[in-house]
Order: sequence, then C-alpha cells, then structure tokens
Amino acid sequence: MQNIVPHLSHISYQERCHLYQQEGQIFWFTGLSGAGKTTIATAFEKELLKKKHIVCLLDGDSIRHGLNSDLTFGDDARKENIRRIAELAIYLAKQAIIVLVSVISPHANMREYAQQLAIENKIAFTEIYVKASLETCMRRDPKKLYQKVKAGEIKQFSGIDSIYEEPTAPALCLDTEKNELSVCLKKLHDYCEPYRTIAEELLVNE
Ligand code: ADX
Repeated sequence: MQNIVPHLSHISYQERCHLYQQEGQIFWFTGLSGAGKTTIATAFEKELLKKKHIVCLLDGDSIRHGLNSDLTFGDDARKENIRRIAELAIYLAKQAIIVLVSVISPHANMREYAQQLAIENKIAFTEIYVKASLETCMRRDPKKLYQKVKAGEIKQFSGIDSIYEEPTAPALCLDTEKNELSVCLKKLHDYCEPYRTIAEELLVNE
C-alpha cells in the first residue's frame, strides 16, 4: 500500500510469547444463528482464562454493535464484516493473543480468506463448525429473531433467505444438536490439548 508504513513494535512476537506463556492463534467458530457458537466460545474463553491465558473473544453481534455497525446483512456487507474481523483477529494473534472468533461467516470463500491470512502470518488457525440444523436453531430461537423472520420483520436471514455454506472440511465439528455443551467442550479441549502442550514445550526449550 502506498505511503503507509506499518508500525513495528519494540517487543518481538517471541518476547510476547514468553511474556504471556502462549502462542497467538485463532479459533474460528462458524455456524447458523442459534447453533451455539457464542455459548461454546464463551465457555472455552472461561476455561482458557482460568489457565491464565490471554484471550480475546470477537463476537459477531458485539462487533456489529460498534466497529461494524455500518454494515448490513447483504452478501457484500457480510463479506466486508468477515474481512475486517479476520484482519482484527490476525492483528491480535500477532501480539501473541489467543483469539476466539464467533461469527456466522456464511461464505466458505471468506472463511478461506481468513485462514489464508493466518497462514501468511504464520498464525495457527482452527476452523470449528458449530453444527445444528435450521429446524433446531429455529426451535431454540434464543434471541427471538427467527420469530421476527416468520413475521416478516427481518429479511436476508442466514439459512432462510440468505446463504449459509456449511464447512466441508472443518478442523473440528461440534454438533450441538446431538451432544450436550459439556461433550462439545470436552471435544474442543481434547483437540487443543496436544497443540497446547507442544506450544508450551517450544517456549520452554527456546
Ligand atoms: S455474518 O453473517 O456477517 O457473519 P454475524 O455473525 O456478524 O453475521 O452477525 C450475526 C448476528 O446478527 C446473529 O447472531 C443475529 O443475532 C444478528 N442478526 C440480525 N439480522 C440478521 C440476519 N439477517 N442474518 C443473520 N443474523 C442476523
């Protein structure tokens, strides 16, 4: 980009890793509204915080409340929403922070974009599909949004009259329809544990 000189921190990534005793990485939770993304991400955040990790949760609703409040739910706006969130996630992960992203992220190519950005920046990226059928999400309807969709008050709703492309090869699939929250969390924990141990060993041996 012309005439833009990114600021270089006086503390290196490795120094931050030592300081925080962790490596920066991104856990990207995708799924329909009501599938349980934020519930799982919040519980995972709690678990990581208890272990004294430095974590940041980027939640779709919250980000749309502030940073992305100028964006609608049209296809292009959703893509821009994900582009910005991916950039923010990378920015934080490059400061050795563990970033949990909880967004519908309906377009497969935008999830790939986020993953590609992570690869380019040497940041570990885990795509987690929080799976529940549309029928189940509609039955749960925690924010009573599906009710509004039925009443015609909301248009372009993911899975109804707006696309949701299911991940074809997520690193992890957490089926909240078939499994209790505790089972999903255990699966997530077991998936992360070997990586966490390796990261800790790397830090100790560096
Ligand atoms: S995304 O599609 O652009 O990735 P994002 O995760 O940021 O969506 O925001 C989704 C949240 O916005 C939902 O959890 C829901 O509470 C709210 N929402 C409001 N309108 C819509 C809509 N038309 N489609 C999906 N979610 C909506």
